Amino acid sequence: MIKMKEITKFYSTGFVKTFVLRNINLNVEEGEFLTIMGPSGAGKSTLLHILGMLDSPSSGDYFFYDKPAHRLSERQLSDLHKNHIGFVFQSYHLIDDLTVYENLETPLLYKKVKGSERKGKIAEMLDRFNMVAKKKLFPNQLSGGQQQKVAVARAIIINPKLILADEPTGNLNTKEGTEVMDLLKELNESGTTIIQVTHSEKNASYGARIINLVDGWIVDK
Ligand SMILES: Nc1ncnc2c1ncn2[C@@H]1O[C@H](COP(=O)(O)OP(=O)(O)O)[C@@H](O)[C@H]1O
Ligand SMILES: [Mg+2]
Repeated sequence: MIKMKEITKFYSTGFVKTFVLRNINLNVEEGEFLTIMGPSGAGKSTLLHILGMLDSPSSGDYFFYDKPAHRLSERQLSDLHKNHIGFVFQSYHLIDDLTVYENLETPLLYKKVKGSERKGKIAEMLDRFNMVAKKKLFPNQLSGGQQQKVAVARAIIINPKLILADEPTGNLNTKEGTEVMDLLKELNESGTTIIQVTHSEKNASYGARIINLVDGWIVDK
């Protein structure tokens, strides 16, 4: 599903190049549950953003299925992202002035899903996440755990092939964190490919494979 070959990412300030990712070679098969670990500043979020087509590499090849993401236009990348990829952030990234219902509707609007189908899908998510009574509330009226559940629901409402989760339980208490991890596990068991970034060994144990990133390099532990 994913093939990365010699991916690098650097930022230039004047004549100085600062490398964030170096020579990343990574293959991920459909249906995998992969964990990326490593110290803060290692480049984990940058790698996840490139995988999610929210950012582009400085050099190297990235094939998503057979599509060469490194050669696609912004528009084509955005199409791939919104049709196939769900992204979950540590700090939820819900839209503050939209209700729970409207937040869930956003990816469907981007995807131009018709009104009646939108309503059906949102109702299904609200039901599945026990959020029916909260649909008219705004994010700041919810607990962190509830906000992250809405964020996960928003990520999966388009039935993505791939879910990318960047420290998804980082701001949650133990119980909320376990709920979110169980949910990711359940999605993986029904066939969704998952790549998570985490500092927690416990969260990593939900996955089947771990890669370690240090100073932008993939290293053997
Ligand atoms: N837009 C940017 N400009 C310059 N440096 C950046 C930018 N984004 C990230 N970095 C740097 O890249 C490094 C890796 O960041 P990040 O991928 O967020 O690490 P991690 O998620 O592993 O903590 C950090 O040193 C960070 O300062
Ligand atoms: Mg990070």
